[in-house]
Amino acid sequence: MSQAEIESLLKKTMGLNSVSVGSATISRAVQKRMNSRGEPDINAYYHEIIHSRSELDKLIDEVIIPETWFFRDNKPFQALDQIVKDKYKKETTKGKKIRILSAPCSTGEEPYSIAMVMLNNGLRSDQFQIDAIDISSRNIEYASIGIYGLNSFRGDDIRFRDKYFIDSPEGYILDNSVKKSIKFERANLLDPSFKINRSNYDIIFCRNLLIYFDRQTQSDVLTRLSDLLNKDGTLFVGHAEGGALIGSWSPSREFPGAFAFSKPDPHVLANSLKNKSTSTGSIGITRKQIEEKPLARPFSSVTKPVIPANTQGKGKAHDLDTAAKLANEGHLVEAAKICEEHLRDKGPDTQAYFLLALVREATGNRQQAVDYLKKVIYLNPEHYEAMVHLSSLLELLGDINGSKNINERASRIKNKAS
Ligand SMILES: C[S@@+](CC[C@H](N)C(=O)[O-])C[C@H]1O[C@@H](n2cnc3c(N)ncnc32)[C@H](O)[C@@H]1O
Repeated sequence: MSQAEIESLLKKTMGLNSVSVGSATISRAVQKRMNSRGEPDINAYYHEIIHSRSELDKLIDEVIIPETWFFRDNKPFQALDQIVKDKYKKETTKGKKIRILSAPCSTGEEPYSIAMVMLNNGLRSDQFQIDAIDISSRNIEYASIGIYGLNSFRGDDIRFRDKYFIDSPEGYILDNSVKKSIKFERANLLDPSFKINRSNYDIIFCRNLLIYFDRQTQSDVLTRLSDLLNKDGTLFVGHAEGGALIGSWSPSREFPGAFAFSKPDPHVLANSLKNKSTSTGSIGITRKQIEEKPLARPFSSVTKPVIPANTQGKGKAHDLDTAAKLANEGHLVEAAKICEEHLRDKGPDTQAYFLLALVREATGNRQQAVDYLKKVIYLNPEHYEAMVHLSSLLELLGDINGSKNINERASRIKNKAS
């Protein structure tokens, strides 16, 4: 028995693709559990986890990446606010209850942020329901307590903390008005019984989970979520996960940068699943899909003046704008080609590297994306957006300290600018 068997058990149980977190992370987690069980033999430990659900759960708690914070990425919450105002608020006066799923919810910051958006809209807690699930019982327990440390408050605007929390020696205690609107539950999104006894949702948040899955698992989970979403509902995914939905789900043009998608037509979904066999990338994009379907405009920021003025040649702005436009339309291969040609002809350039990084990120090649982002930061040490992307990618690759350092550097730049 070897670590490979344990990795394969984790993949089967929770979908974790060892490539996404790295075998070393899994090895450290296994070692930690073996030490605390006083078990030096990996074979014996493997037998323990296949026979003891509680030990397997403890190993899962060790391998998961629970990283989360209130109003993470902000844009999805602004989009939610707008959707509630435009689409649902009026209906609640006629008795509608807005149903929302936060899966995975980790330690609760995401569903509580959702609840704050609802309460800020003047909704009563009986006018909406938020189901929040996570595979980790430790996370669910933490979430249900509702006391948070400083690390959970990372944005620039934390006025919500004064409104909904009480500062105490134990930490920031969440107000009951927010707590009571959420039903926390330990659940596994991969479990075939996950859908049973659940009514459909108007909004689903499934952010920063698909990145840990391989293509087939992403596709299975997305089919499950599609079944659970109302016809005119909205699915939010994480900023590095939009690529997994290309070709079947429709990105919302109304909320760029929020990674909001509408439910796929069942026929389109069936076809896209059939086409997966001709996939070109590791995140489920077929060549045909890359050519035909637009992304949720993750590349729009590239057209902003992120490069120092003295490096902006006339021809350059033109061809890189074209590349950004192509990337936004889903023509990732062509966009990358233009950037590469640009770099070959005109030498190192922040804008070309940054766009290439985003393209690589969208096609699942995180390591290359990291390398390009490092080049951007080397050329322009004040490049805030590159740092934000690099920080999340490092987190995904399991380099939590590296991610934290870059995140702190990005915050310093932002503070300096404001
Ligand atoms: C990085 S957190 C994401 C939290 C939140 N959605 C966010 O974006 O801030 C990932 C969470 O996924 C959970 N998770 C991993 N596999 C899961 C599965 N198969 N079913 C449910 N939750 C899972 C982990 O326990 C972890 O808390």
